[in-house]
Amino acid sequence: VNVDGRPFRSIWLADDGVTVDIIDQRLLPYEFEISNLSTLYDACVAIRDMAVRGAPLIGATAAYGVYLAMREDAADDALAHACSALLETRPTAVNLRWALDRMRGAIGALPAARRAAAALAEANAIAGEDVAVNRAIGEHGLELIRGIAQRKKAGEAVNILTHCNAGWLATVDWGTATAPIYLAHDAGIPVHVWVDETRPRNQGALTAWELGHHGVPHSYIVDNAGGHLMQQGKVDLCLVGSDRTLRNGDVCNKIGTYLKALAAQDNDVPFYVCLPSSTIDWQPDPGGIPIEERAAREIERIAGRLDERRVADVGVTPSGTPVANPAFDVTPARLVTGLVTERGIFAAREDALAAAFPELA
Ligand code: MRU
Repeated sequence: VNVDGRPFRSIWLADDGVTVDIIDQRLLPYEFEISNLSTLYDACVAIRDMAVRGAPLIGATAAYGVYLAMREDAADDALAHACSALLETRPTAVNLRWALDRMRGAIGALPAARRAAAALAEANAIAGEDVAVNRAIGEHGLELIRGIAQRKKAGEAVNILTHCNAGWLATVDWGTATAPIYLAHDAGIPVHVWVDETRPRNQGALTAWELGHHGVPHSYIVDNAGGHLMQQGKVDLCLVGSDRTLRNGDVCNKIGTYLKALAAQDNDVPFYVCLPSSTIDWQPDPGGIPIEERAAREIERIAGRLDERRVADVGVTPSGTPVANPAFDVTPARLVTGLVTERGIFAAREDALAAAFPELA
């Protein structure tokens, strides 16, 4: 994706050919800054502190984290330590475990001297595949948007509601939920996106920043507006991402996704989840999805830019108020119209997923 005319991915091998660069998403949408990761520790902090975020990007960063660890020490215990340290950074997005399993599979049997180079090659492959996979998700999702556009009057926009940031910043490029939107816009189909603010981290501001840079018409809305807009007939389609989708089709995504799916069902609005197969948890009985409980501070305070550009952080709750901050929720498969994957659009059902990905199921 281009930022001010310059092509960017969300993570890449730095110009030194050795370390890794990321866009520091904690500073967006106010500042666009690139940060450098040169150690396992850097990669762990980047994921934990949400300098990088979004399930596919968390996976790609973990892969590069293993590579950076192998540069420091490629012994067996260092590999085990790197994988467990990275796995502990965030609990919900299953792409993290998927990427670590893949890295271990690629380098575990190699002699230590060859591990760093092989780890870099595998991390680059994971990142490259993520771009291709999201593009494929985009092609399939594009047909949904095209179908709706064909039923509208000429020039009338297809209104799409999205939650959180499932855009290119959450992946290596394209995004999952945004890929169909970018392709539709580029194909000349009029689209307009309702961007959920997504308290408390306001990932909607990242989505708005992305869409703005790509010239996609959009409106930023508070999280509670979606149901009303659906009742008013102002939403044609919901497209969201996922952090972990179970083999039965249940979708774990950013907190608030479930309420959007309920409102969508009540208003006959199609609710599609866009995800790469690396987001599917194929374990027969995962024993419940670990829902990340994040710091109270994220709710108690809110950050924003003052008129003179300084970013301020202000309190919004009475001091001492008890706070709960679950970061994800689970949308039952029955509320999901379909899963948009790199291999096509499937029912949110175990048999459909297993038929689409037999080698993984
Ligand atoms: O807490 P975050 O910002 O990492 O959560 C991200 C989301 O919930 C996204 O919707 C999800 O990862 C899909 S990203 C393609």
